[in-house]
Amino acid sequence: MTKLKIGVFGCGNMGSALVLGMNARIPDAEFFLYTPSEVKAQALARDVKGFALSRCEEMPTNCDWYLLGFKPQVLDSFHYEFKSESKIISILAGVKTQKLIEKFKTSKVARLMPNTPSALGEGANLLFLNSSFNSEEESNLNFLLCATGKLFKMNTEADLDLTTAFSGSGPALVFELARIFEAELSRMTQGRVPAKEIISQTFFGSSSLMKGAHSFEELREQVTSKKGVTYEALEVLKENNLQEIFSKAFTAAYTKTIELSK
Ligand SMILES: NC(=O)c1ccc[n+]([C@@H]2O[C@H](COP(=O)([O-])OP(=O)(O)OC[C@H]3O[C@@H](n4cnc5c(N)ncnc54)[C@H](OP(=O)(O)O)[C@@H]3O)[C@@H](O)[C@H]2O)c1
Repeated sequence: MTKLKIGVFGCGNMGSALVLGMNARIPDAEFFLYTPSEVKAQALARDVKGFALSRCEEMPTNCDWYLLGFKPQVLDSFHYEFKSESKIISILAGVKTQKLIEKFKTSKVARLMPNTPSALGEGANLLFLNSSFNSEEESNLNFLLCATGKLFKMNTEADLDLTTAFSGSGPALVFELARIFEAELSRMTQGRVPAKEIISQTFFGSSSLMKGAHSFEELREQVTSKKGVTYEALEVLKENNLQEIFSKAFTAAYTKTIELSK
């Protein structure tokens, strides 16, 4: 059986998470990994029994898919001669398909906005495909990406950019909330209870309930009796307009996404 060859340029936090997710569920995938410092490529190559390359030019020219996993700011200084039929998956936040098509002289550029739970096959990953992919290529890509989590197809790049802060950045916002819960619990109990474990399990249990729920409000109401303990906490969040704080955060992230696209 021929192996699925994946060439990866940039194996930092996100590139590595995707490769780990693919490797766990697609046993016949073979990874060729390049990072300028070699350190991360070598570490990942050990984990997935892949090949760490010391030079960009060593990347095989016949990979089935190429993953661009570096920062958008690196794009201008990145040089690799793709073939006109090469198929590229870009995770560069904000960078438009058209810009990549012009730079790499291949029209087969898929834009993916993944998130780090992809390493466990639990990513919430957004995909925008232009019309240059045929149905076989599209189904191969679905197969590859579904190994890393749930795939949400975006009809426009504008929707992908608007959703980026919620899925791509989303885990960081969730972890920040968890950190605040943990810090407050440790402060109030002066470290007498296992705060990190209690908070992890609370987030895990809550997100498990979210999957099957009709609405998040319904779940919240099930925990909130009028004038009870939870009600008091939620009232403070309402009085201090937590929603507005998040609205500002998402708007700031979107503004940055647009800035990166220029
Ligand atoms: N982190 C996330 O949760 C997340 C979510 C969605 C999308 N993204 C997107 O993923 C991309 C990478 O983000 P990250 O957080 O994974 O960054 P990161 O951890 O800093 O990793 C960036 C990687 O790019 C490599 N690199 C730098 N210059 C390169 C070049 N010329 N050719 C090939 N590789 C090069 C770096 O190599 P060295 O190791 O040698 O420095 C590093 O391995 C960004 O475009 C970001 O928008 C990230």
